[in-house]
Amino acid sequence: GALIVLAIISAYLFGSISSAVLICRLFGLPDPRTSGSNNPGATNVYRLGGKIPAALTLWFDVLKGMVPVWGSYFLGIEPFYLGIIAVAACLGHIFPLYFHFRGGKAVATALGAMFPVAWEMALLLIATWLLVFRVSRVSSLAAIVTVSLAPFYAYWIKPQYTVPVIMISVLIMWRHQSNIVRLRTGQEKRTRRQ
Ligand code: G3P
Repeated sequence: GALIVLAIISAYLFGSISSAVLICRLFGLPDPRTSGSNNPGATNVYRLGGKIPAALTLWFDVLKGMVPVWGSYFLGIEPFYLGIIAVAACLGHIFPLYFHFRGGKAVATALGAMFPVAWEMALLLIATWLLVFRVSRVSSLAAIVTVSLAPFYAYWIKPQYTVPVIMISVLIMWRHQSNIVRLRTGQEKRTRRQ
């Protein structure tokens, strides 16, 4: 009991570290919460600073999902709670305790959380994202299509994780509201090579 509660709280606190904000500070870039799309995530860091800071942001945001779920898995925590721990890491990224609760969209963190328990699914999600991105060059569209398919993939490959995958997909979709409006009005920006 106590171990699970501790793991959930740790996942939230770990997820709360905003890689995008810290890496932009480190590289002397504008604050990603108030520049570009105003989103602290790897896509916006790429817009603001190009490949290297974006890759670092992506990697640290992936780790925020990966580390808590992996750690909990090795501690013998059961699948249901691993799903909750993954949700907690994503909630940390979206509502970060140390950054005035103004976080990102949790695409990278969700992917990281998937790896330790369902790597086949993680690879399929990456393939889906890459395919949509290659065709459209729109990061948000790639994320929206990917999270729409994620529950079906889960039901097919890892049915025990279908419920947490649905929860995370709904969260990510909800965080893409402004992107959905921009996509519908044709104002969403394509990612240009930096
Ligand atoms: O992962 C976030 C991405 O889907 C959209 O980012 O900055 O274009 O709103 P952004």
